[in-house]
Amino acid sequence: MDTFDIIVIGGGVVGLTSAWKLAESGRKVLVLDRNQCGAEASSAAAGMLGAQLEVSEPGDFYQLCLESRQLYPQFAEDLFEKTGIDTGLTDNGILKLAFSTEEVDALKSQMDWQIKGGARAEFVNAVDIAHFEPVLANCAGGLFLPDDSNISAPLLARALSVAAKTSCTVKEGSEVVAIARDKSSYRVKTQSETFYAESVVIAAGAWARHLLPQALECDIQPVKGQLLAIRPQNGLSIRRTVFSNHTYLVPKRDGTIVVGATEDRTAGFDKDATIDAISDLVTAVQRIAPGLRNAVFERTWTGLRPGSSDDRPWIGEVADSPGLHVAIGHFRNGILLAPVTAQMIVASIAGEPWPHHWQTFHVSRKPALEVK
Ligand code: GLY
Repeated sequence: MDTFDIIVIGGGVVGLTSAWKLAESGRKVLVLDRNQCGAEASSAAAGMLGAQLEVSEPGDFYQLCLESRQLYPQFAEDLFEKTGIDTGLTDNGILKLAFSTEEVDALKSQMDWQIKGGARAEFVNAVDIAHFEPVLANCAGGLFLPDDSNISAPLLARALSVAAKTSCTVKEGSEVVAIARDKSSYRVKTQSETFYAESVVIAAGAWARHLLPQALECDIQPVKGQLLAIRPQNGLSIRRTVFSNHTYLVPKRDGTIVVGATEDRTAGFDKDATIDAISDLVTAVQRIAPGLRNAVFERTWTGLRPGSSDDRPWIGEVADSPGLHVAIGHFRNGILLAPVTAQMIVASIAGEPWPHHWQTFHVSRKPALEVK
């Protein structure tokens, strides 16, 4: 009973999607989570599916983000069919604002290379923005990305948890303390139990570091992000996700707006809400959307993103450790990249060749990509 085909360590969106897809391919899968599935960064995320939003140049990472975003409608539909949970996928686009001529130029150049690459992106002038989003501050223009969207990260995490629990064995409160290889199988020990499997997938987010072979250069570290939720009053809200200078305001189907997020690489695993971070987020809302001044503060929370040495994902089978696979280092893009990561892991475990643009994110890559 303690022998499986595959053990997935980590029940966040990346681990759960991989586990669910592996189980669907006929494998006997165990998921081990140190806490509760989806309890960490996965449900803390604002849920932006910003494939075009935050990528600064064309290339393999941009392609990977587009590919995963394209998988989302079917992914959300499959999850709904499997679990009855509507994950709140929207199709209202993202508006990236400019407040100076330099920012306008940067947005126009982003628009040019994205359109050249076949994506949709539209420059909107300040007058039109004021008309469609009257709560926003006077700006110099914006880039509208109609195909970027958002999802409810907590509902996604819950749906994936239900999907995994119906197709895999899931053990929560099971922290892995050791992984060892015995001949052709792996022995995975938690504080109280030992399990065996032919393959192991480490998808433990910010907590992956101590589980990884020392030779890996990905240097997984927690990157603390604080967020808050506000509830607009008197019908004064935003229609689309709005982004400016690292702050985003994401309107949710329940009427709240999620505001995020700070980035702190020095806090370790600390998840306390700090006055400084909350003040920065509130100041950003006042700067971007002064018309929301009467919005009611609802709550604040923290997520620990899995940063890496180059803040790009590290995925695939580890060299010299046959059967040991990783799906780590998704940094700001775990929600967006979960569906394509699961495809990469399924292919990796089946020993199927990866398309060329996936290779950039292979765990054996060397040298590390430049930090962005
Ligand atoms: N994806 C946005 C963030 O990590 O804050």
